[in-house]
Amino acid sequence: MSYTIPITKVETSKVDTLDFNNIPLGTTFTDHMFICDYENGEWVNPRIVPMGLIPTHPAAMALHYGQAIFEGMKAYKDTDGEPMLFRPEQNAKRLNKSADRMGMPNFPEDLFVEGLKELVSLEHNWIPPKEGSALYLRPFMYADEPFIGMRAATHYKFIIMASPAGPFFSKRIKLWAEKQFIRAAHGGTGEAKAAGNYAAAIRPTELAKAKGYDQVLWLDAAEHKYIQEVGTMNIFFKINGEFITPKLDGSVLDGITRKSVIDVLRDKGFKVTERLITLEEVKEASHNGTLEEAFGAGTAVGIAYIQEIGLEGETIQVSDQSPIGLEVNDTLNAIKTGQIEDKFGWMLKTRKELA
Ligand code: COI
Repeated sequence: MSYTIPITKVETSKVDTLDFNNIPLGTTFTDHMFICDYENGEWVNPRIVPMGLIPTHPAAMALHYGQAIFEGMKAYKDTDGEPMLFRPEQNAKRLNKSADRMGMPNFPEDLFVEGLKELVSLEHNWIPPKEGSALYLRPFMYADEPFIGMRAATHYKFIIMASPAGPFFSKRIKLWAEKQFIRAAHGGTGEAKAAGNYAAAIRPTELAKAKGYDQVLWLDAAEHKYIQEVGTMNIFFKINGEFITPKLDGSVLDGITRKSVIDVLRDKGFKVTERLITLEEVKEASHNGTLEEAFGAGTAVGIAYIQEIGLEGETIQVSDQSPIGLEVNDTLNAIKTGQIEDKFGWMLKTRKELA
């Protein structure tokens, strides 16, 4: 389907106020946002408007019952300065999977991609040119119907915001293996990118940070034994030459960086296995010297190299080097910025806005 997306532009862009050398994730927003409304059973009025506040009724159902889901993705520039999106159709599909789980309407996948292309074209001056930086895109959907009863809402908003971002971590990270709190149980919402999953992670993450760790390593809800994922990313271990990542069992986010890392590793000739993996197995591998490296993979963080995993009374030393993680990171960055052939067909070009 082809869509008309009217654009109301700001009079003066704020892009000149941005220090491209210092852009922590999520602190600065571009000039415009994409919005679409869901009413009477359909998505209507897609538009791009100046970034600003959205009037919200205090009874908006997302505020009370948490019908809110989101995506995270990034836009880059290729070597000719053309903006490019990384696997946007995957985010469109995942948003709708999350929507299904949370009783929310699906958003048309072609409009999702079209809205992104229009917004990124308009905001191309905000894409940071530096290696490791990108324009972070945050598509999200929430129930904005004012209603106190408990049922699926009938009114929603879908919005895409854009926020330039520099590197997430500048050093190797430390994870806290969490045995008191859980992130997801079988039958729960773990695989959905639901706002509530992140809300429930905030307190445990604060406690882990107070102990000197960067993020929480989540374990299964029943036995606190199997590794699921990390605060804002999936996780990979290299044990005895083979890469292992927790399998998708409904409690683990189906990360787009995760699946891209699997493809890149396999393309480089590595064996990658998606299976259950226990903390005990990682501990043993660390002790017997077969734990070669470990890294996290996510949109916001990219590839985050793991130094150690802490748990009550002991520390699992991982590694102070991640040669393959670094290589995968370089390959992904080179694909995203058009420096090497996109042999997987992942990149979608947008265009620089016509003056
Ligand atoms: C992302 O990597 O895009 C995420 O959604 C993680 C976010 C909570 C920072």
